[in-house]
Amino acid sequence: MVSDISFPRFLKIGAGAVEELGSVLTDLNVERPLLVTDAFMVSNGSAERLVKIIEAAGKHAAVFSDTVPDPTTDSLGAGLDAVRTHRADVIVGFGGGSPMDTAKALAVLSEQGGLMRDFKAPRSYAGPALPIVAIPTTAGSGSEATQFTIITDVATDEKMLCPGLSFLPIASIVDSELTLSMPPRLTADTGVDALTHAIEAYVSKKANPISDGLALSAMRTIGRYLRRAYRDGSDREARENMMHASTQAGMAFSNASVCLVHGMSRPIGAHFHVAHGLSNAMLLPAITAFSLPGARDRYAECARQLGAAEQNDSDETAASKLIAFIDALCADVEVPSPSAYGIDRARWEELIPLMAEQALASGSPSNNPVVPTAAEIADLYRAVY
Ligand SMILES: NC(=O)c1ccc[n+]([C@@H]2O[C@H](COP(=O)([O-])OP(=O)(O)OC[C@H]3O[C@@H](n4cnc5c(N)ncnc54)[C@H](O)[C@@H]3O)[C@@H](O)[C@H]2O)c1
Ligand SMILES: [Fe+2]
Repeated sequence: MVSDISFPRFLKIGAGAVEELGSVLTDLNVERPLLVTDAFMVSNGSAERLVKIIEAAGKHAAVFSDTVPDPTTDSLGAGLDAVRTHRADVIVGFGGGSPMDTAKALAVLSEQGGLMRDFKAPRSYAGPALPIVAIPTTAGSGSEATQFTIITDVATDEKMLCPGLSFLPIASIVDSELTLSMPPRLTADTGVDALTHAIEAYVSKKANPISDGLALSAMRTIGRYLRRAYRDGSDREARENMMHASTQAGMAFSNASVCLVHGMSRPIGAHFHVAHGLSNAMLLPAITAFSLPGARDRYAECARQLGAAEQNDSDETAASKLIAFIDALCADVEVPSPSAYGIDRARWEELIPLMAEQALASGSPSNNPVVPTAAEIADLYRAVY
């Protein structure tokens, strides 16, 4: 098998790296950045801090801060107006996955036109787009290193996966200090998202030697540091390690794909407005158990890297320890089931056929070690409720 591998051209990683935004823009030879962020980044002063860094490099900055969590097609129009008004020549996505994904959508739509649904999988878009610089503040979506954006179509309530090299940031600045303000719930949700990226990249049918190395390294780190970051948000060592692992996991799944957990998680997010990492976490134990027979050796290695199993445990033993480890982790970081979260049973049942159809249509389940039928996906939705 020949694998296509792609990463951002520039990657600045380290505490305080955001101070180098000006020099990154100079290296990219751009003059008019549009900073795409959210209201929280404005309220805590960090958007203004970035504007000052940009202006100190002699560039002209404008800010668009009306991004919404889990960006929708409706939320993009005002952003496109901001790109045009500012005559932006680069889009800087600053925040969690939602502002970064909005930035990616704006970078493509502003140059190529059309509607976001024109770009959804299985299409992979590599045409005209503004360059994207991504600066994550969660650890995290990994969007700073992926060739995807995820936008919800308000007409269908579908969380669309839109792939292609034009969505891959040309530069990413990964600064763990930006994550120190994350509250425990957000730390857990985004950390489990990163863990799911690493596991799914490693067990994916599209896994390759490059994604494997990144995924395994991310798992080792997340196994050691996620609980620490959750318990004490001011633990800089834990924050820094989680940030690096999240970017590694993003680099891994961008080049190996995610699988069934993400395929089934997006419809839950779209229909029930559950945070992305939390809907992953609700599914992860049951889907790991379902998928295990298709890649027992790979799941066993996940368990060893996470510190859930001993190096000399058999694959059988290690893989079963993985399920117990994920269950315990989800309990420690207080992941509720959909029912405990307050989702209405009748509405859940009613939407299962549509959610199963949307999960399959995203293409992600076809990379799963066990490729499920629509009926099996429906059974899994019922089981996790
Ligand atoms: N493109 C990709 O490859 C990819 C990968 C995974 C997830 N995603 C998408 O990313 C989105 C989720 O992103 P997310 O989980 O990073 O969260 P988010 O961007 O949706 O942010 C969630 C909340 O956290 C706040 N926040 C962000 N950083 C903070 C900080 N440092 N301190 C305090 N609060 C902070 C935000 O203001 C917001 O209120 C979903 O829409 C998901 O589908 C995309
Ligand atoms: Fe994710």
